[in-house]
Order: sequence, then structure tokens, then C-alpha cells
Amino acid sequence: MSPLSSKKILLGVSGSIAAYKAALLTRLLVRAGADVQVIMTKAAQEFITPLTLSTLSKRPVLSEFVRDETGLWNNHVDLGLWADLLLIAPASAHTLARLAHGLCDDLLSAVYLSAKCPVYVAPAMDLDMYRHPATRENLQRLSSYGNQIIEAEHGELASGLVGEGRLAEPERIVQMLETHFAQRPALWGKRILLTAGPTQEPIDPVRFISNHSSGKMGYAIAGAFARAGATVTLISGPTGLPVPAPTIRRVSVRSAAQMYEATMAEADEADVIIMAAAVADYTPVHPADRKIKKQEEQFSIELTKTADIAGSLGGRKRPGQVLVGFALETDNELENAIGKLRRKNLDFIVLNSLQDSGAGFGHDTNKITVINKAEHITTFDLKSKNEVALDLLRLVEGYLTAL
Ligand code: CTP
Repeated sequence: MSPLSSKKILLGVSGSIAAYKAALLTRLLVRAGADVQVIMTKAAQEFITPLTLSTLSKRPVLSEFVRDETGLWNNHVDLGLWADLLLIAPASAHTLARLAHGLCDDLLSAVYLSAKCPVYVAPAMDLDMYRHPATRENLQRLSSYGNQIIEAEHGELASGLVGEGRLAEPERIVQMLETHFAQRPALWGKRILLTAGPTQEPIDPVRFISNHSSGKMGYAIAGAFARAGATVTLISGPTGLPVPAPTIRRVSVRSAAQMYEATMAEADEADVIIMAAAVADYTPVHPADRKIKKQEEQFSIELTKTADIAGSLGGRKRPGQVLVGFALETDNELENAIGKLRRKNLDFIVLNSLQDSGAGFGHDTNKITVINKAEHITTFDLKSKNEVALDLLRLVEGYLTAL
């Protein structure tokens, strides 16, 4: 039985050419056993008729505050309370902007503002609109409010252009909702400790040594575990990212030494420790307490090794505790990753190769290979970091269930 069985789904359809895909989406949701109530914006009705969606959902489609024929009020507050989940697909650039700014000029935006349930937003638009800083900012903002963004895909667009902006395939959207509703008793209440982001090693009060880590992968993992019911502590190096779920406790640090201290202080309590941070391996021995002035032609900084957080945790791992490390490699990838898995006494190592396009620093996508303690290797396709996070979550869940 699908986890969507008897779930009440509000499907918000807005005015994008991809609105025609709402028909297949409705069909798939209904087939999975969900009770689907469609809300269309005015513009959506230019692209697909309410009759199509009401026939497929077996419910009248709503779009106005007041029903024409009866004069009855479509109570947005009741609709928001009725739903187990609100899915807005496709979300046009205009609808994203309205939701991000709290505008409330139609039924869908009013339902969004009053909904107490989880909200998933699947944008669809032309690539330049999708790339525009205004759209990126609106998506960021919606995500920081705790909404789940189902990133648009790369492919052929209705304009004839090829690029990002295509609505995620309905099958993929349904799969994400199924994952959302899946029961995860193995993770419920489990204490997850995560490190994420870069570290900054001070040279003087204005300069530091750091790396290109954006923290996106670690934050996506934190969000996935938190939504699955785990208790998540996120030890984060400097990133501009919002906390990905309201239940997460974030501890902000800067240097490798601070990350070490903060992680060690929490480690004994943790059931699972995932080390996604790109921790500096070396730090200046004598950071200056005043700005260093330029003088000589050559200048060198003496560096010393930082403490290896993963290695220390591997050395004091308690029975049943699960350790997951990351390895970002440019060459001899598998060999290096397996070396780290053994040396640091990890249960899993997640390998990213900088040779895979779309993987690694700053991207919203990643391609990983996971090696477990028995040195069994699993490779995954290039996916959004949110989906990679779910793959990892399933691996850890399976491992905890088998313990
Ligand atoms: N790591 C850590 N503390 C450090 C360095 C790394 O906890 N001081 C963790 C990373 O978070 C990652 C794993 O160890 O999960 C592997 O990191 P990486 O830098 O690739 O490993 P190193 O042991 O530093 O190996 P090398 O620099 O030789 O590649």
C-alpha cells in the first residue's frame, strides 16, 4: 500500500505551461490512494480546464473565494486544516513571488498562508525566469520558511530552449511525497549529529584560510533527517544558509578547533554522526592579533595540523553508534575513500568526485558513491542534493533497522 493512501492532498495549480502535467500528477496521486482537492489560479485555467482536473480528482476544482452557483464560501482556513499536505505544482514565477511575499489575492495564496500542514513547491518556468535573481531569492525565502522545494529539472522547455526550469516529472514528485509520508520508526527520535560547511582558519583579524564548501549537502541531510522525525543537531561552519527545518538545533562555529570542540561535546549522546563538513586540515600556528601589513616580497605562514574530528570519533565510537564520513577526491577516488573508511573506523563513507560534472562545491546537485563497512560499493545517479540526502537517509535507516 502506498504511504499516500488516504492522505488528504491539496494540489495548487498555477499558470505555467506545465499546468497540463497537473492532470497526470492528479491521476498518480489518486491512484496511490490519496484524496486530492485541486485549487487552480485563474491563469492556470488558461492552460488546462478545471473539468479535466475535477474529473480526475473526483472533486470540484476550487479557485474563487466564493462558489458562483451557491454563493458558498470556500473557507481557506478549513481547507488548510483539512490537508495533510499542500503541493503547489506547477508553481509559476508569479505564484512563487506572491507566496514568498505573503500576498493573498486569490484562494491558493490564502490557503497557503493559512495552511498548517507541510508545503511542497515545484516550480516550472522558462530558464531565464528560473535563473533570475528575483526567482532564486523567492525560492530561498520560501525554503527558509520551512517549505520544501522540488527543484525544476533540466531539459527541453516549452519555449524550445533547453535548460533548467522544467517541472519535476510527476512520478518524481509523487515519489517525494511517498517518502514524506513513509513511516520511519527506525529514525524516530534518533539523535543525529551533523557537521556541515567549511571552516575558516584565522591568519589575522581580517584574513582566513578556507575552502569552497557551501554547506548545501550537509544542510539537505539535516533537513531530511529532521523531517523523518529524528532529533538533529547541526554543527555548522560559516554558510549563508537558513536552518533547513525548525526543529533543528544549529551550533555555529568558525574554525576547525571550534568545530572539534562543539562536535566532541555532543558526540556521546549521538546515535548517528554524519560528517559532511569540509574541515581545514591545517591552521596557522600563530594567528596575528593585528592586521598583517605587507612588507617582504615573499611571505609564508606556518601551519599546523588540525585535530581530525572523524578520526577521533572513530577511535571512541560506542557500540551501536553509526559514523558516516565524506570524502571529496580528485583522483584515486575509491582507493582514497576506502583508506579513510578504514583509518577513521567509519560505517559509511560518501564519496564525491570533482571529476563528475554537477557534483561537488556550490552545486544544487550531487553524484555520490557510498562505501559501507564491508566495503560494498553503491553508486547513485546525479540528483538534487535533497534527493541525495534521502538516499543517504534510507541507507542509514536500513543499517539502523538491521542493527
Ligand atoms: N574530517 C574531520 N576532521 C578533519 C578533517 C576531516 O572530521 N580535521 C572529516 C570530514 O568531515 C570528512 C572526512 O573526515 O567526513 C574526510 O575528510 P577529508 O578532508 O577528505 O579527509 P582527510 O583525512 O583530511 O584526508 P586528505 O586531506 O588526505 O584527503
